[in-house]
Amino acid sequence: MTAATDSVGPSLDALADAFATAHPAFATAPESLRFVRAPGRVNLIGEHTDYNDGLVLPAAVSLAIDLAFIPTDDRRVELSLLATGERGSFDLDAIGPRRGTWLDYVAGTAWALLEAGVPLRGFRGVLSSTIPAGAGLSSSAAIELASAWALSGGETPALQPMRLAQAAQRAENAYVGVLCGLMDQFAVTMGRAGHALRLDCRSLDWYPVALPAEVEIVVCHSSSPRRLEASAYNARRAECAAAVAAVAAREPAVTSLRDVDLTTLERSRERMGEIPYARAVHVISENARVIETEAALQAGDLEALRRLFAASHASLRDSFEVSSPELDALVGIASRTPGVVAARLTGAGFGGCTVNLVERGRSGALRDAVERDYPGLTGLIPRVFVVEAAAGTGLVRRPGAGA
Ligand code: GLA
Repeated sequence: MTAATDSVGPSLDALADAFATAHPAFATAPESLRFVRAPGRVNLIGEHTDYNDGLVLPAAVSLAIDLAFIPTDDRRVELSLLATGERGSFDLDAIGPRRGTWLDYVAGTAWALLEAGVPLRGFRGVLSSTIPAGAGLSSSAAIELASAWALSGGETPALQPMRLAQAAQRAENAYVGVLCGLMDQFAVTMGRAGHALRLDCRSLDWYPVALPAEVEIVVCHSSSPRRLEASAYNARRAECAAAVAAVAAREPAVTSLRDVDLTTLERSRERMGEIPYARAVHVISENARVIETEAALQAGDLEALRRLFAASHASLRDSFEVSSPELDALVGIASRTPGVVAARLTGAGFGGCTVNLVERGRSGALRDAVERDYPGLTGLIPRVFVVEAAAGTGLVRRPGAGA
C-alpha cells in the first residue's frame, strides 16, 4: 500500500542528525536531546461553530510536526526547519513583534505562555513536518503546541491542558493576528488514537468519541491557494455577530448563536438581512449535525454519516459560502466512488482539504479516482493522505533509545 507512506516523515534518527549539524555546540550531550510530536487535525463536522459557542468534532491525525530540541538556560530560542534549513531565533526576554514568518507561531506561544505566568526555558531545535503547509490541517497549531513543550524544557507544560490550548489560541489571536476559534489548538492538545473529540465550545466540556473500526479517514488536498482566507474568515465572524446582534435586540438573553434556534432566528430575520441570516442558518443546523454525527458514529450508521456530511458540505457551500469549485469537485468525485461513506470540506474552507470517511481497505479506489479525475476538472494536482486518528502533543522516543 502506497497510501500509508504519505504520513511517514523523516525518522527521529534523521532529525537527530540534522540537530547535530545545525547546533554542533549542543550536540555534545546527545542524551539530552528530546523529541516532541504535535499532530495536525481534521474536523469531522462542526464547521465555523467554534467561535459561535457551538459544537465541534475534530480528530488529531497522524500527519505531524516533530521537533528535536535541547533545553538551555540562556533564554534563547534558536531553531531551524529540516526541509529548507531556514533558521529563526529570538530571546525570551525580548520577543518583539510578529515577523510574518513561521517563527511567529513559536514566538507567539512563548509570549502567550509568559503572559499566563508559565516559567519558560530557551532551547535549540530542528523542526520537521508531514503536515502540508497552508492546507487547513492546523500545521500552525501543531507548531504552537510543539513549541509549548520545548519552551517548558520538555516537561508537561505547567498549565491544565485546556488552558494550554487556550494560550496557544491566544498566541494566534493576539500575536499572530488570526482570529481563529479554539478547535485547532484543542484537537492538537487533546487528540486520542482511534477517536474523534467532541467539544462544547461554550462550556469547554469534551469527551472522546470512538471511530467505527470499519472506516478510515482520507484527506484530499485540493492544492488550491487560500489567499483570501484571513479576510473572508473574519468577515464570516462579523456576519455571525451581526445575526446575534439582530436577535439580541428583541431577545436580550441571547449572547451567541448557541442561544438561537431556527424559530427564534426567523422572528428576527427582517432585522438582519439575508447574509447574516444565511450564516446563522448554517451555524444552527451545523450544531445539530454534530450531535447527530456523534450518534451515527456510535451506532456505526454509515448511511446517516453520508447524509450528514453531505448536508454539512451543502450548507457550507450555499449558506456559509466558504467552499470553492475545487473542494466541490473533490466532494463530487468522492460521492461517486464506491467505498466512500461520507465526504465534505474540512476546516475554514476557501481551499484546503476535504475529509472523507471510507470503508477500511477501500481508500485506494478514492485515491485512484481523485488522481484520475481532479486534474482535468481543475488544472491542479491533488494530494491524498490516508490518516489515522492520533494522540495529542507529547514527547516521543526514538525506537531503541534507552529510558
Ligand atoms: C479554522 C479555525 C478554527 C475553526 C475552523 C472552521 O480552522 O482555526 O478555529 O473556526 O476554521 O470550523
